[in-house]
Amino acid sequence: MRVLVVGSGGREHAIVWALSKSPRVTELFCAPGNAGIAQLATCVPVKATDVDAMVAWAKENKMDFVMVAPDDPLALGMVDALEKAGIPAFGPRKNAAVIEASKAFSKELMRKYHIPTAKYATFTDMDAAIQYIHEQGAPIVVKADGLALGKGVTVAATEDEAVEAVREMMADNKFGASGSTVVIEECMTGPEVTVLCFADGEHIAPMPSSQDHKRAFDGNQGPNTGGMGAISPTPYYTPEIAQKCVTEIFEPTMAAMKAEGRPFQGVIYFGLMLTPEGPKVVEYNARFGDPECQALLMRLDTDLMDILEACVNGTLDRLDIHWKQEASCCLVLASGGYPVAYEKGKVITGLDAVENAIVFHAGTAAKNGAIVTNGGRGVGVTALGKTLEDAIQNAYAAAKPIHFDGMHFRTDIGHAF
Ligand code: AMP
Ligand code: GLY
Repeated sequence: MRVLVVGSGGREHAIVWALSKSPRVTELFCAPGNAGIAQLATCVPVKATDVDAMVAWAKENKMDFVMVAPDDPLALGMVDALEKAGIPAFGPRKNAAVIEASKAFSKELMRKYHIPTAKYATFTDMDAAIQYIHEQGAPIVVKADGLALGKGVTVAATEDEAVEAVREMMADNKFGASGSTVVIEECMTGPEVTVLCFADGEHIAPMPSSQDHKRAFDGNQGPNTGGMGAISPTPYYTPEIAQKCVTEIFEPTMAAMKAEGRPFQGVIYFGLMLTPEGPKVVEYNARFGDPECQALLMRLDTDLMDILEACVNGTLDRLDIHWKQEASCCLVLASGGYPVAYEKGKVITGLDAVENAIVFHAGTAAKNGAIVTNGGRGVGVTALGKTLEDAIQNAYAAAKPIHFDGMHFRTDIGHAF
């Protein structure tokens, strides 16, 4: 099979790595890819958000299957466009990707189908939003409705902070059109757990639990990032909680999407909070998380191509998916200043000296025979271990030889929840 993966980050490197092990995948392409991906696949210079150019390229080059990994092209309808061109494509159609692309949509879905989540209200009028904040009091959470690179959420400790967040979104247009509608919701407490599920429109296959670390610095301090590291599994996700999540959250969400005429095919990401009243949904994503994907795919013991195809064909219930017993940890080595301002083009050394782990490239490029940084997150060093503690230690030990100017990373991945 000739297979194209759309995207260019650590997540896409992990997907390409997993697909490269499939005996069924004979030729592998990635658009646009990065320097690490280029070692396993042919990189194609088409932007991940250029739907027309991507479909044209896939058609012209006779792709048998396309895996659309990032949120933007999914929200733009890349899967619909590929299907129209007769090319099987993994990922939700535009009308299902909206579960991530609009928080107002996902909150209304949960209300309508009684899926546990934080109490909320949606506003397009700033004064009404501010009045609601004063009625509810703090702490309170303000969210931009649309996609905002994971940065559109303010967990406000005071009413003033919440009002300021609303003003930035609605008056100063900090997130552009994504912030013209805001969702204001009750502040939940409890450990956060992430569960990703493969989905075929009807059935789901939950993956093992995982946990990202979104803040830039140790102790969950500093600004939100795309993710500084991930582990799998997380110790909080017990079999009892898992059962509750399947029956109260995962299956009802799939049924709700189907009932709404928006069957979900792809990876559905459940961001959960284990509150004192039980598990509740914090957010849905319509795709693999990055770097959760890297930690999870290290543990996958079934041909990823078979799974992706079963999702597209609606036959997921007939497939047995196996996972390694070992735990995993992905440690992100980021550019100095990330996620705010950072320089690119720093030479990354020591990659060849890494042992006992896989280095998934995120923002990298090849330049004059060297690998250089080309984004906020440089690479994600991903290791397995008999226990979670072993996996964490292995990832940190494996990362030791790697260096680039300004490199920074968290020292508490797997130990801060
Ligand atoms: P989101 O982009 O919706 O996942 O939000 C980013 C982060 O904000 C989450 O991972 C939580 O840590 C936090 N958060 C979001 N919604 C709530 C809520 N209702 N209560 C408490 N924390 C929240
Ligand atoms: N790691 C979180 C995300 O990909 O949204």
